Amino acid sequence: LENCGGWVNASAFDGFHLTETLPSGNVPAPMQKLAAIVLAAGQGTRMRSKLPKILHQLEGRALVHFPVELALGLNASPVVVVTSPQAENVERSVSSAFPKSVSFQVQEKQRGTADAVKAGLRGIPRSVSNILILYGDVPLLTLATLKRLIRGVKPGRPIAFVTAQLEKPAGYGRVVRERKKVIRIVEHKDAGPEEQAIQEVNAGIYCIDAAFLRKSLEHISTQNAQGEFYLTDLVSIASSAGQVVSTVTVEDSSEIRGVNTRSELVELHQILRFRTLDLLMASGVTVLDPSNTYVSHRASIGMDTVIEPGAHIRGQTRIGTGCRIGVGCIVEDSVIGSDVHLAPYSIVEQADVQKSVSIGPFARLRPGTRLETGARVGNFVELKNTTLGEGSKANHLAYLGDADIKKHVNIGAGTITCNYDGTAKHKTIIDSGVFIGSNATLVAPLEIERDAYIAAGSTITDRVSRDDLAFGRARQVNKSKRARILRKPKT
Ligand code: UD1
Ligand code: CA
Repeated sequence: LENCGGWVNASAFDGFHLTETLPSGNVPAPMQKLAAIVLAAGQGTRMRSKLPKILHQLEGRALVHFPVELALGLNASPVVVVTSPQAENVERSVSSAFPKSVSFQVQEKQRGTADAVKAGLRGIPRSVSNILILYGDVPLLTLATLKRLIRGVKPGRPIAFVTAQLEKPAGYGRVVRERKKVIRIVEHKDAGPEEQAIQEVNAGIYCIDAAFLRKSLEHISTQNAQGEFYLTDLVSIASSAGQVVSTVTVEDSSEIRGVNTRSELVELHQILRFRTLDLLMASGVTVLDPSNTYVSHRASIGMDTVIEPGAHIRGQTRIGTGCRIGVGCIVEDSVIGSDVHLAPYSIVEQADVQKSVSIGPFARLRPGTRLETGARVGNFVELKNTTLGEGSKANHLAYLGDADIKKHVNIGAGTITCNYDGTAKHKTIIDSGVFIGSNATLVAPLEIERDAYIAAGSTITDRVSRDDLAFGRARQVNKSKRARILRKPKT
């Protein structure tokens, strides 16, 4: 679907690639342009927070980003987020995560879901034929469910919606059927005891023919228990006009769960976490202790990689095959090649690690670190904005910042690049084959040429030429037998 540019063929949705210019003479298949409205004007007071509910995060992403990403994944265009007047920070958060692709409409007063959709429609051009309605606080819905939903809208079937069978349906709108046909949705507060016994609920996720939606919204009133404009009235409007209403029932009801409280947010996180871990294990990743392992739903991990207990793999991290991610490691927004060993308690953030590298234990790779094939970084080594070339090693206790270190360099224990002079950052360049002795202080800007040798304990401030040996320390002085005098008791 990547190439559809917002065009969706409702009858042959999956794997159907559309071209803009069909060969002349062919009758073009009926194409349907899809747009999406994400309802997000609700207050979410039960979060007890200054932050709007939909900006609370699940695995580092705001809740509202989930439905927006789904809509974009279906090439919906435009995607309109309906917000409340107080929520400029919602707009900021969404547009920084999805630049350009999303627009916003404000719903002045919370007068119900139909009114919110009306607000959203202001941002949708007439050329759009189908409109997807999503909620900003329902993050676990899947693309597969939405693809099925979209297929439910066709001539004579102007509306499709998602349902679930719940053991405890209280609070939700119930799906009223007559001989299997959907007749209407009744809200919990408007339902009589018989209707309240219905366990099939409305998830609030719809795909609707745009013309039908625009026309029918005019017929929705507030004559109900809550005095609100109910979007659910569309269902009875369609069915009483003799049209068929499609439903898609999710097997896993967590897909439709919303977030109202902080404890529900935690429950959804647990569900998302195990969904991700199960997928990983099914695809050949070993997770030694799933109950104590955190892998973001946006991460991807290759076959035969082993994840030890207490590891956190965050953000958009990619890890190759045959790796080992040790106990207590944190890896965030990084790319890690195959056969990499991360020994316990190493922290890797926005780093690029090539294959067969070994890291840690207790190593820290900060943003801009690049480790090339076969490099080794040992305990208590910190790197920032630094490349460590092929086969190079920094095995113990070092700080390497703003350094460009080429191939087969040895960085001795205790080496420090002095990259900061109190005002600006400076670069250290260390060419291939260089040996840096232990406890060297490299004052940047500095360049050390190929195969040079830095004596242990040196402070190096000037360029070192190829094959040179540099000393930057006072010579050793031995005072003969002075130790004995020092040790003698004073009288
Ligand atoms: C709605 C459905 C109900 C369904 C339930 C699923 C109606 C009338 N009822 O219930 O059948 O079972 O969702 O959760 O549609 N919103 C706005 N502006 C408003 C009102 C709501 O943007 O004026 C947004 C909320 O932020 C939320 C979504 O719409 O994302 C649903 O609102 P909510 O109040 O949770 O749903 P209900 O109306 O109770
Ligand atoms: Ca509600």
